[in-house]
Amino acid sequence: MSLPNDRIIYLDYAATTPVDPRVAEKMSACLTQDGCFANPASSHRPGREARARVEHARAQLAALIGAEPRELIFTSGATESNNLAIAGAAHFHQHRGRHLITSRSEHKAVVDVFKRLEEEGFEVTWLAPDAQGHISRDQLVQALREDTILVSLMWVNNEIGVEQEIEAMAAETRRRGILFHVDAAQAVGKRPINLSQVPVDLLSLSGHKFYGPKGVGALYLRRRPRARVSPLMLGGGQERGLRSGTLATHQLVGLGEAAHLAAAELDEEMGRLKVWREQLLSHLLTLPGAALNSTSAQGVPGIVNLRFEGIHGEALVAALDPYVAVSSGSACTSAVVEPSYVLRALGLSEAQAEASLRISFGRFSNWDELSAAADRIEQVVRRLHSLSPRGQSDSGPTALSG
Ligand SMILES: Cc1ncc(COP(=O)(O)O)c(C=O)c1O
Repeated sequence: MSLPNDRIIYLDYAATTPVDPRVAEKMSACLTQDGCFANPASSHRPGREARARVEHARAQLAALIGAEPRELIFTSGATESNNLAIAGAAHFHQHRGRHLITSRSEHKAVVDVFKRLEEEGFEVTWLAPDAQGHISRDQLVQALREDTILVSLMWVNNEIGVEQEIEAMAAETRRRGILFHVDAAQAVGKRPINLSQVPVDLLSLSGHKFYGPKGVGALYLRRRPRARVSPLMLGGGQERGLRSGTLATHQLVGLGEAAHLAAAELDEEMGRLKVWREQLLSHLLTLPGAALNSTSAQGVPGIVNLRFEGIHGEALVAALDPYVAVSSGSACTSAVVEPSYVLRALGLSEAQAEASLRISFGRFSNWDELSAAADRIEQVVRRLHSLSPRGQSDSGPTALSG
């Protein structure tokens, strides 16, 4: 029997966040006839008004990440931004070299672009993270070559929440004149980012990871030194010819407002999540077979990834389903059913990866909910353990991936 939706405790913020009601309000003023609905490329007054809102949103987003507004290209989300940054940079700069670097723990929206580039004849070095999920600066430096044209690493991992030392690594690529792209879909709005201080050249972000709408994001392209990419989308020449297509005023206004709120509330919000993370872990880690996947202290507080050895994560998620929405992996790629390649890359066995659960929380979570969810998880874990005394569950493979 399923409970009404408002009774389900939502703990899958890494997959997507609810839109902040303050964001929704701004968006709804840009949709209907009495609102700011016109095409921002039109030269008439309604068009100019829409354009002004779009540019305001661009400035709000730029302020959140320490960029200049003209360094941002709006896209449909981080998947598109990653594609544009990686394929666009590889194609634009291929005359200088055909060697690229990324890691084994990137999101599918990065991994699959590099695989495609390998098929096209580019050579890709796949860096392996350590057991905590970190790539070291030395590892990167050792992989750099004369013909390297692009490095792409994520700032915060979507499954385990671990942060890479982007500042240190970007300094190395800048010194050598190699482009550095960062997938920051899970970092923006969750940790401070100041691109006027960090020599990253290209950065992808997505609105629905920080209380903005789905289907909108941006790619940051540094102006000095200028990061250049070939466009993927051709047409009306919007966004300086790098991303054709009518600008979605309501989506962009929502993205801008979400950025504005994140900038104002980030510190307080993260402080709160940190305390809850500790409380949650002090409960869950007492359960049978429980262990944290990555014990790194460097990470965003709202993502907790742990395993309950002897239990199948997917069975756990299914048993929790009427009460608590969590993920045995990332919903971004849940169509693919396989043990998480990210957890496998940390050195976890297939069974350990399959025994894992990602709990992610954020702005609209509260401790009462988290504590009730932990009680539910305890109940279910103990029950599943009692059903499989030898510590093996009998369900099929799980969907722990990107
Ligand atoms: C790290 C990371 N990169 C890229 C994406 C894709 O973003 P989008 O859903 O905006 O295409 C996601 C999540 O979906 C993500 O977590």
